[in-house]
Amino acid sequence: MSDDKQPRVDTVRLQNLSRAFISSAGFFAAIDLELFTAISEGDNTVSQFASRANISEVNADRLMTICASSGLIHWHEDHFGNAPDVQRFLVKGDKSYAAAWLTFTRPAWENWGKLTEKLKNTEPPTVIGSYETMTVEYARRYHEATASVGFGSGRRFVRQVDLSSRNKIMDLGGGSGAYSIVAAQAHPNLSAVVFDLPPVVEVTKDFITSNGVEDRVSTQAGDFTKDPFPQNCDVAIMASNLPQYNREIITDVVKKTFDVLLPGGEMHLIGEMLDDDRTGPLDAAIWGLYEVMSNSTGVTHSRSDCVSYFEQAGFVDVNVHDFIPGILVRVTGLKPQ
Ligand SMILES: C[S@@+](CC[C@H](N)C(=O)[O-])C[C@H]1O[C@@H](n2cnc3c(N)ncnc32)[C@H](O)[C@@H]1O
Repeated sequence: MSDDKQPRVDTVRLQNLSRAFISSAGFFAAIDLELFTAISEGDNTVSQFASRANISEVNADRLMTICASSGLIHWHEDHFGNAPDVQRFLVKGDKSYAAAWLTFTRPAWENWGKLTEKLKNTEPPTVIGSYETMTVEYARRYHEATASVGFGSGRRFVRQVDLSSRNKIMDLGGGSGAYSIVAAQAHPNLSAVVFDLPPVVEVTKDFITSNGVEDRVSTQAGDFTKDPFPQNCDVAIMASNLPQYNREIITDVVKKTFDVLLPGGEMHLIGEMLDDDRTGPLDAAIWGLYEVMSNSTGVTHSRSDCVSYFEQAGFVDVNVHDFIPGILVRVTGLKPQ
């Protein structure tokens, strides 16, 4: 290609990236000020939103402009409308309202300004990272946030995986118990044990009771890196804690799961996994980097890393499925009869 045919290189992408945190700030402020709820309820012009949110018109215009530039809202002739994902997940009062999860990482905001120093930290990492200081109060806030997306993931899991001939699930790091609760509601003969850290299972119990499945979903307190697992299970699920641990720990957890599962049982590891060329998706890389904040051993695992953990453990029919494209991948395997 001659020089004049080379794509022109400019700073646009780099400039946008250098200020991406300002777009995040605009997104959080729009959630705080309930912009998307206002638009959904018909307060969908700058002046209507300004008066509803009790801010000046110029600031309302600034906020709506950044939201429109981020594709969160769209201008239709004489008013704004929400983008479809915003309408579904960010209208307050709706069952699918997910602001708790979408603002979950916001308190870490100030620490991200210190990332360079944190990357230079030479102290030895801790095994369970930020969970070392987990309290029941923190677990409650944490799982109000995870539940706002976790029950949707649980429903997707139950649609994708045929559990009709299964008897008992162990849900490792099950948190709110979303997957187990939804599975038990879908299959009246299925029971489940949600295994999680002691402060977390106190919160899990409340989710189980409020969803009316306490006759079949129970809890077991423990740390899956060192404590014994539930017995007599023919399904194991481990969802959304993969990048919090290094390869050795995940290898051990998958092997321990294989050893305790009943013959013919199945395991599903659902997590933020990198593509095998390790260049994305971005969300998997973000959660790997997130572990710098708690100085844990955690790393981002690729799809093929996870397949190898399953195969080393002895699982057969190991398969990889896109679960929530761009966010979660599901690796499955069977324990031979
Ligand atoms: C992001 S939440 C996911 C919860 C649930 N699986 C879901 O997808 O909705 C991660 C969960 O893993 C649990 N967890 C992480 N490390 C653990 C460990 N070593 N032992 C037991 N549970 C652990 C956390 O306490 C937390 O409840």
